[in-house]
Amino acid sequence: MLLKISTPLPKDIPLELPLPEWLLVGLLVFAFLAHIVFINLMLGGSILTLWSQIKGLKNKEYDTFAHEIAKTITVNKSMAVVLGVAPLLCINALYTIYFYSANALTGFVWILIIPLVIIAFLLTYLHKFSWESMENNKRLHISIMAAAVGLFLFIPLIFLTNVNLMMFPEKWGTVHGFLEALVLPNVFPRYFEFLGACLTVTGLFVVGYNKRKNYPVEEIYTSFTRFDIYKLGFGVTFIGLGLQILFGLIVVFTIPAKGLGFDVISIMIATGITLIYAFYWTWKTLTGEQAQILQFFTKIVISIVVFLVLYGGNRQLYRHNALAPHQKLMAAKTKEFQKLSEEARLHPVVEVEVADTSEFGKGKDLFTKNCSSCHKEKEKLVGPPMTEMVSIYENNPEGLKKWINSPGKKRPDYPQMPSFGSLSNEDLDELAKYILSIKK
Ligand code: HEC
Repeated sequence: MLLKISTPLPKDIPLELPLPEWLLVGLLVFAFLAHIVFINLMLGGSILTLWSQIKGLKNKEYDTFAHEIAKTITVNKSMAVVLGVAPLLCINALYTIYFYSANALTGFVWILIIPLVIIAFLLTYLHKFSWESMENNKRLHISIMAAAVGLFLFIPLIFLTNVNLMMFPEKWGTVHGFLEALVLPNVFPRYFEFLGACLTVTGLFVVGYNKRKNYPVEEIYTSFTRFDIYKLGFGVTFIGLGLQILFGLIVVFTIPAKGLGFDVISIMIATGITLIYAFYWTWKTLTGEQAQILQFFTKIVISIVVFLVLYGGNRQLYRHNALAPHQKLMAAKTKEFQKLSEEARLHPVVEVEVADTSEFGKGKDLFTKNCSSCHKEKEKLVGPPMTEMVSIYENNPEGLKKWINSPGKKRPDYPQMPSFGSLSNEDLDELAKYILSIKK
């Protein structure tokens, strides 16, 4: 009897995945990596533009450099957005209840992403296209970029807070909104590591961008040489790697243990090694001979690519480990529920059809059919419990029949009970007999 066992709601039945799980996971990891590299370039490029444009107030060469980098931001931003769709869809399909629970818990700020992203993108376009027209109003022009950088710095924090929160269902009961989710132990170390990665990737991008044979560095700049720009790029990478190593270590020591396994820890160590390797060769580059400045470029790029792949894979592995116990529990519950609803489907409300031969059979059936959705025997449901009815109408079955036929409005904290004018006098007799047979 579905109604009797306080109807279970089909809330956890997962839909069938549209693709095999391994394919969705693979897509998630690789599409996310592609996405995040362009996010790195967008954010790192914006920070670098802002910094060099401010320096450009004194030294025109930096202003020119800022202009060159600024031209790439909007392109990288578009790539980042397009490549962000696939991982978002994969995570929706693979981790539906986790992702949406986290979304709901950080609701207002989560939705804020949309207007903030729009504003930030418009600001970068405004900044790019007003370069010449605001030539004489540099400070205002710089503040446009500063506003965009501010937004670009904030938006990843929302994403990170959300994907972090989704891994910890045990925290959902105590987290009320974005700010409380933000201060979970894992968020800030991961955020600063991400900022480091933005600088690392952007620095290498600057070197690669200026290294191109057909890129006329000599025509664009008056005093900057290719060497100066390479040095600048490697310098940015060096700072980025330093941040990554520092905050990576903090992540290692603060990450909640529940997703950690031998697998995750080994890969963590491997990512650490690739970072230190890249750090070492960047340092060698910065302190080495000018003529050989590009000597280790490929080495550094490869180690960063290896780092990214390991890191991306490990991120997924941790998430998988962290959620596995909860998913297992949920699968068991879902199975139980599916069994229950399957039974209900095969044997729909039969008890009512099959006439009960006990003393109050008819009255009980009528009650189950008409009243049990609102009344239980001993507890309050929508209306008062049956025991309360007995107390009131013990010696007054006629009064009870009258109420059922046309109920009044009595209790201020209850809704109005619907009337049952269609029940025959005989039905009402049976009902009353049954109700009054209940022991107080
Ligand atoms: C949609 C919900 C709903 C259904 C269905 C319903 N009731 Fe009620 N019932 C209520 C509510 C709500 C109250 C309390 C109303 C009030 O106090 O104003 C109530 C109150 C009562 C009372 C208390 C009357 C009193 O004097 O205090 C009785 C007896 C009762 N219902 C019997 C029945 C019976 C018998 C049926 C089925 C034929 C039934 N109810 C079906 C909601 C429902």
